Amino acid sequence: MEILHFEHNEQAAQIIASFYDTPPLAYIHSFGCQQNVNDGEKIKGVLADVGFGLCDAPEQADLILFNTCAVREHAEQRVFGNVGALKSLKEKKPRLIIGLCGCMAQQPTVVEKLRQSYPFVDLVFGVNAIDTLPQLLAQKLTGGKKRLLQTPVERADIVEEIPIRRDSDFRAWLPIMYGCDNFCTYCIVPYVRGRERSRRPEDILAEFCQLVDAGYKEITLLGQNVNSYGKGLEPRVDFADLLEMLCRVPGDYHLRFMTSHPKDASRKLIDVIAAEERICNHLHLPVQSGSDRILKEMNRHYTVQQYLELIDYAKAKIPDVTFSSDIIVGFPGETEEDFAATLELIRKVQYMQLFTFIYSKRTGTKAALMPDPVTHKEKTERMARLLAVQEKIAHAETAALVGGTQRVLVEGHSRSPGTLAGRLTNNLVVEFAGDEALIGQYARVHFTSSKGTILKGELV
Ligand code: 5AD
Ligand code: SF4
Repeated sequence: MEILHFEHNEQAAQIIASFYDTPPLAYIHSFGCQQNVNDGEKIKGVLADVGFGLCDAPEQADLILFNTCAVREHAEQRVFGNVGALKSLKEKKPRLIIGLCGCMAQQPTVVEKLRQSYPFVDLVFGVNAIDTLPQLLAQKLTGGKKRLLQTPVERADIVEEIPIRRDSDFRAWLPIMYGCDNFCTYCIVPYVRGRERSRRPEDILAEFCQLVDAGYKEITLLGQNVNSYGKGLEPRVDFADLLEMLCRVPGDYHLRFMTSHPKDASRKLIDVIAAEERICNHLHLPVQSGSDRILKEMNRHYTVQQYLELIDYAKAKIPDVTFSSDIIVGFPGETEEDFAATLELIRKVQYMQLFTFIYSKRTGTKAALMPDPVTHKEKTERMARLLAVQEKIAHAETAALVGGTQRVLVEGHSRSPGTLAGRLTNNLVVEFAGDEALIGQYARVHFTSSKGTILKGELV
């Protein structure tokens, strides 16, 4: 565990220790995006700092925390299902503390539902309250049966000094900004994560240097919209400047970033990716729809033509560049014609990978008020058609790499017995035979065949 100048909370630690005969165990489950996974790592760091151990099974835990996602209804239902399933465990183990945090905890309606219908949930805290967790736990333990269901607070500051316990020792998440100001009409994120706040470049650089020194090979910069990094910072610095600054740090590593909003992805950014060896030649550029009419309804602030011009610029400047994207199928009012335009766009760009979602209505967003006459069945059929188109493209893109050789980061054992899995800069995975000592290291692999989107290869 690395600690970034965190002030250890001695009093809370003592209170917590006094309630348990042996060090208590926590089970933390993070749902959703990388930002949430990174928050989960901070929660683990904060808990470890006040004497908690971690466990992989809820049955062993003294504290169970669900770090939740609110971006789609399905994600919320899963969490309620998971929480509900703990009722009997709590009956058997009354001292067990059950808590919920993350994006769902930012919604007053969710907190109210937990208050009314889930009496065995003891603790709720928002995304800006992770650093206060030791005090909350001490308060909960000394408060008897009293539940601590907090209403979320919006915070303009960024708490820099939170300990972190990373899930991997060679891949790391590095948040550069929090929140979002875009208000895409379907999206709940700006309501739950608040306004955009950028970390200071010197704080990012300090954490980055720690990661490189500790031997991390892949560092992924995180933000809801990394391209608008730097708003409000003095002196002025933009995302491309930040990338250039980080790439000056010597070491054996590579950089990724997500997510880029096409409206803010600049030519300057693409020039920096082209110039810097250490930045992956891959752009995750969520387009959401291929119809200008729908993009307008979504409040995305770009047209298909502008998006394609950006893609063409990247293709011209960055050799071997690959793209991935997010697509929403069945946004309110999406016609067959709009959907056909999305298929056309996908064929034009030739994405390596797509993350596809059927539109999910989020109460409180503008799109939730729009008429939505298309049936769920039709939306599911559109989704199947889209996936069929994408599958062909991705298989062909993968097959085109056979015969080549690349440096990959070895991530672990692959699904085929006895082989390792390495990740290419474009996010594809290659399976190859090799010593497990290579896990967490770079290896040069020659690609011998492909099956679907999985490459097979051999060590060079
Ligand atoms: N319904 C479906 N997909 C959504 N996303 C965000 N909000 C919704 C919603 N209400 C998708 C977008 C975004 C990704 C992270 O999740 O495609 O880029
Ligand atoms: Fe949501 Fe749009 Fe912000 Fe992404 S840019 S988090 S889709 S509002």
